[in-house]
Amino acid sequence: MADPVSKRVVIETKLYYNENVTNYVAFHPEDDILLDTNRVEILNKYVATEFEIISHPTVTKGAMALNRYQRKKYHLKKYHTYSVRFCSAKQPSRTLFDIINERFALKNKVGGMERVFEEIFGDVLLPRLYPQSFVSKADISKTRGILLYGPPGVGKTLIARTTCDILNVKPKIIRGPEIFTCMLGESEQNIRNLFEDAHNDQQTFGSNSKLHMIIFDEIDAVGKNRTQNCSVRDTVHDSVTTQLLAEIDGMLCLDNILIIGTTNLIEAIDPALLRPGRIEKVIKIELPNKTARSAIFNIYTESLIRNGALNGDVDINNIISRTEGMTGAHIEQIVRLAVHAAMRRDILERDKFDISEEEGELLEICNRDFVEALSKVSYN
Ligand SMILES: Nc1ncnc2c1ncn2[C@@H]1O[C@H](COP(=O)(O)OP(=O)(O)OP(=O)(O)O)[C@@H](O)[C@H]1O
Ligand SMILES: [Mg+2]
Repeated sequence: MADPVSKRVVIETKLYYNENVTNYVAFHPEDDILLDTNRVEILNKYVATEFEIISHPTVTKGAMALNRYQRKKYHLKKYHTYSVRFCSAKQPSRTLFDIINERFALKNKVGGMERVFEEIFGDVLLPRLYPQSFVSKADISKTRGILLYGPPGVGKTLIARTTCDILNVKPKIIRGPEIFTCMLGESEQNIRNLFEDAHNDQQTFGSNSKLHMIIFDEIDAVGKNRTQNCSVRDTVHDSVTTQLLAEIDGMLCLDNILIIGTTNLIEAIDPALLRPGRIEKVIKIELPNKTARSAIFNIYTESLIRNGALNGDVDINNIISRTEGMTGAHIEQIVRLAVHAAMRRDILERDKFDISEEEGELLEICNRDFVEALSKVSYN
């Protein structure tokens, strides 16, 4: 009897007594069931008692052996048949990200964002992508906003765009500061215009309205923490923030909008914007660690490798370890600069500018091109 969630198997087996076995439950080493078992419980009449497990060649196949002390302590009787539960601590073989990635090929576009996409899917996208036959039963409203915050160049806008691709929606993309114009009241009107299509669709098509997405880059500019100051500039900023809140709240019964904001300055954002029901899903995007940098490097060298233009002397591990503290944008830049370095090197080596297509075809990016590229990248 297999339980796929807990990965447990229950069998019935005879208790087998063996003086040589101490402190353990023992099973015959050829029992397949032991392969990924790391804990075994005997389901006694009263309790499930847990034992450590060993394989023991003197034990009859399929039986188990306990020492005398254990038998006494747990009131287990020799030669009785007991139910035994085998528990495996093995993780489910695939993570949510693995399954998402198989469907949406995320790893080809965004490197090292397993946790981020699991969060975006788990908390925002699933109610839109899971069968509505279930979702409608729960009658929950759908999350209307995601905020991605973190240092420049870590892939926030890329994640936002990729999320739109997943949902197959062409987003309106707006940089926060673009909302502001000199004319009085026009900035607020610009905010209203952004939401207008979603409002109209909702009125015309109701729950059948298609999804509208808005990517707000630098959302801190339009969702600025409202101040007590009274300068004209502050007043405009405050009323733009208020307008944005009003638009999102106006959507309260609307499920046809998803806003993705990105910012470097989360502390500058009005907390009211981030409360549940508004842009409630807040995700920090960190600098990539070594594994993530390696994944990003793979994305940007994929074409070079596929086309046989990466020389075998390239020491990828060494390059990655020298990118500590860099962002995805830096890694993309390094690959680009290495390609430039290779072309420059080829011209110098051939000592001529006019290189034929056939000659160019032979050029490969070498380790020293990457070393040169690394020396040119500046970061904090
Ligand atoms: N994890 C990543 N995987 C693949 N490419 C990445 C990754 N992170 C950054 N990049 C690349 O770096 C560049 C900058 O990324 P992006 O514009 O998404 O950064 P950002 O976090 O929005 O920065 P900013 O805060 O300055 O707007 C893009 O060209 C993107 O392709
Ligand atoms: Mg950005």
